Amino acid sequence: MLAVPWIFTILTLLLCADASPRRSTADCAMDSIKIKGGSYSLTSMSPSRVVKYTCPQGMYPYPVQSQKCDRYGRWSPLRTPTGGTAREVVCKWISCPDPSRLEHGSVEPMLGENLVGNSTSNTCFEGYQLRGSPTRTCQPNGKWSGETPICDNGSEHCPNPGTPPGSRRSGDRFGIDDKVTYWCDRGLFMFGSAERVCQENHEWTGTEPACYCECRLHRMPSLINIYHSKSAQKRCSSPMVIHTYYAFTLVYHSMP
Ligand SMILES: *[C@@H]1O[C@H](CO)[C@@H](O)[C@H](O)[C@H]1NC(C)=O
Ligand SMILES: *[C@@H]1O[C@H](CO)[C@@H](O)[C@H](O)[C@H]1NC(C)=O
Repeated sequence: MLAVPWIFTILTLLLCADASPRRSTADCAMDSIKIKGGSYSLTSMSPSRVVKYTCPQGMYPYPVQSQKCDRYGRWSPLRTPTGGTAREVVCKWISCPDPSRLEHGSVEPMLGENLVGNSTSNTCFEGYQLRGSPTRTCQPNGKWSGETPICDNGSEHCPNPGTPPGSRRSGDRFGIDDKVTYWCDRGLFMFGSAERVCQENHEWTGTEPACYCECRLHRMPSLINIYHSKSAQKRCSSPMVIHTYYAFTLVYHSMP
């Protein structure tokens, strides 16, 4: 009677020992882990180590937000957006695209850099009405608050389609079938329509383009590839998508 539980226990132990994987998982060394201007935390011990980097407000960890230890004891590489490898992680300032191009109006002050918290005010010259936001503030997600300011006098068939921050426009006639073309400042990616045509119904085809920095801020696995792949840009035509990418600031954790 007493022997039965014993046999059971031994059997269980044998079965369990056999079932548990016996691969050797080496832990990555912590001495190579550092971030200039920020802090890090070890967020997971099992099955492997993950280090998360944190920067002060208004900054982001570059080129990666975290590093993962592989099973051979190597940290994931510090891949830069251009495909290179960085030597170390640094905190960089988050900036918004250049807001200073306003036709028939002025933007003040002229900021050298457009950092988080910086604001601009937009005023239109005499005879033009402002559409969009009179003031805009650079937000921690790298976007300006409010709407693109546009100065218009209503004299054309379609309203002035504006020049969103970080973009340039060619085409300044807004009659039926007139076309405007946009491109982004160096280093920025376009979401929305690069080309818009004035239609009979007084509306432009497509959606207002937006130009954003290719900072690796937001490592949401399913989205990051879309964001970084040039060929996939056309698929990201909705500005709503950008909201999702830029949700990164809320993901940050502080050091315990
Ligand atoms: C822009 O923001 C930075 C960082 O907060 C600040 O140091 C700078 O003075 C601001 N510039 C202006 C013109 O407000
Ligand atoms: C309206 O603005 C356009 C340029 O956008 C200008 O050519 C035109 O003369 C203006 N019309 C009036 C009535 O001010």
